[in-house]
Amino acid sequence: MTQVYTAEEVRKHNTRTSPWFVIRNEVYDVTKFLAEHPGGLDPLVEAAGQDATIAFDDVGHSDSARVMMRKYKIGTLAKGQGCSKLKWALLALGLAIIIGIAVKRYAM
Ligand code: HEM
Repeated sequence: MTQVYTAEEVRKHNTRTSPWFVIRNEVYDVTKFLAEHPGGLDPLVEAAGQDATIAFDDVGHSDSARVMMRKYKIGTLAKGQGCSKLKWALLALGLAIIIGIAVKRYAM
């Protein structure tokens, strides 16, 4: 099974010693790649702890870079954390409408 990490966990790896980042909702640990990255160590360290999708795409990485990165994928980013509040709000609204209709129909 794929390991799932929260944004909070990724954020903790904003270090030179254990840099992780997110690209398209996938989590990468590039600790062992720092010394090999053709673009140097600095851009990877700068992206550490963050979502690096835009930075990665802006460079226009080659297909071989995209194949290479698979080796460093450690899991995916947990989804739905920000959405759950909205889900509850919609559920509450739906319930309020149903109760409203029921009250109108039966209580009058
Ligand atoms: C696991 C993820 C990554 C892999 C496997 C990877 C791989 C590579 C490779 C193979 C190149 C040589 C050019 C090419 O083939 O496209 C490259 C260049 C470069 N990469 Fe990455 N990269 C990764 C993540 C990043 C990130 C997050 C940044 C942040 C900005 C970055 C910035 C750069 C830069 C600035 C260059 C130099 C481009 C140039 O010389 O024109 N890379 N990378």
